[in-house]
Amino acid sequence: MNYDFRYTVSRRGFLAAVAGAAISASMRTAVASAIDERQIKVAPGETRFSGADGPPTAVWTYNGSVPGPALRLRQGQPVRITVENGLDEGTTVHWHGIRLPNAMDGVPGLTQPPIRPGESFVYEFTPPDAGTFWYHPHADSLVQIGRGLAGPLIIEEAEPVAVDRDLLWLLQDWRLTKDGRIAGGFGSMMDASMSGRVGNLVTVNGQAQGGQSVRAGERLRLRLANASLARMMALRFEGHWPVVLAIDGQPCDPHEPEDGRLVLAPAMRIDIALDMQGDPGSRHDVIDDFYDGLAYRLTTLAYDKAPPLRAHPLDAPQALPRNSLPEPDLANAVRQEIVLQGGMMGGGKLARVGGMTGMGMPGMNGGAAWAINGMSMTGDGHAGMAPQFMLERGASCHLTMRNETAWWHPMHVHGFSLSVLSRNGSPVPHRQWQDTVLLAPRDVIECAFVADNPGDWMLHCHVADHQMAGLMTVFRVT
Ligand code: C2O
Ligand code: CU
Ligand code: CU
Repeated sequence: MNYDFRYTVSRRGFLAAVAGAAISASMRTAVASAIDERQIKVAPGETRFSGADGPPTAVWTYNGSVPGPALRLRQGQPVRITVENGLDEGTTVHWHGIRLPNAMDGVPGLTQPPIRPGESFVYEFTPPDAGTFWYHPHADSLVQIGRGLAGPLIIEEAEPVAVDRDLLWLLQDWRLTKDGRIAGGFGSMMDASMSGRVGNLVTVNGQAQGGQSVRAGERLRLRLANASLARMMALRFEGHWPVVLAIDGQPCDPHEPEDGRLVLAPAMRIDIALDMQGDPGSRHDVIDDFYDGLAYRLTTLAYDKAPPLRAHPLDAPQALPRNSLPEPDLANAVRQEIVLQGGMMGGGKLARVGGMTGMGMPGMNGGAAWAINGMSMTGDGHAGMAPQFMLERGASCHLTMRNETAWWHPMHVHGFSLSVLSRNGSPVPHRQWQDTVLLAPRDVIECAFVADNPGDWMLHCHVADHQMAGLMTVFRVT
């Protein structure tokens, strides 16, 4: 998969020019609100991580490819996506980060029955926010995402953003056997109670090798999405100074990341502006050094020999236009607290957590190893999950998340974007909104949102093993 949107952008620019010149305003409205129809077929398939000549690996695919096709939709334009299930087990599609009607959220049991083998489900929604999102199954998630099901979801701004190219890297982490097959053993107690199923091969848009070709002087918008089950990443662009434009699809105040490292936990997205300031013909590594002592080269920026695209560097990148998110009223907000508990502690002991609801003993396959506020909801979502708390529609919620475990957790909320207020008592700068907030061991995060969207919504760790083993809850907006 090569997600280079140069041509899409220029075609759109062309269409816009034609529309402006020849089509009346009413016709333009009709064009904008026409329903965009898409088809996705979920089915087993094959991919080659090391290029056309490499060995094949059996995977599960959306429309035959890994990752799935990049869905590029328009902000405010209704879309209808028909998903056909060609697997031997039930599935759903969750449109991660999109603020949509609850019935379209793709959580089995909670918002829809799983799509049975051979059947289809039609998802209909109108994406309210422009930005970088992704889609993935929410049924048997650990196995289904681990076998490759994930795809990028781009919601275009109304006006094209001023960059030379718009690129996307969807990052996936695979645990492969020596002979290159996807390893079994999903949901082992070791993975579930510790770091989750971290793999041994990381791909960029489905490819393990090969670099990103670039041209000196150009400015890229690079959309990074971590679609791994469990691998945290911290990307460093050697010799380059990325500027963060958006986190989890939501524009923030443009800023250089701390220490030049882009920390990207599972399910997180970061959009950067990247000015190609290297020399023609030069090569620069992109390193992931999240885990101490385990740094590796993710990919390489490979400059072609062409002379720089422009003689002088560009001015600092502009902020992206903000989406219209409802601003929480902190003075009158309802306070809720989520405490993350469990997991392996020092000395190889599982922390004791109350109210285990999983089957079997804590930490056994399919059982609970984690809890939220003393309660473990295991699996992927199912009928009869009692909400942890209720919010009245329109209320502002001030949510504190407290990590009492010894592990990292990217906590994800469905249906909303959270205004991130503070981390361990220090204000979070750059006016950030996120749907997935990474908590380091012992971190305390404060965030806020307006409960403007009714329904039962998931709140869970996006390390798939952690979610399956109890780090999940539900809240209700009435
Ligand atoms: Cu990315 Cu509950 O999901
Ligand atoms: Cu989600
Ligand atoms: Cu976790």
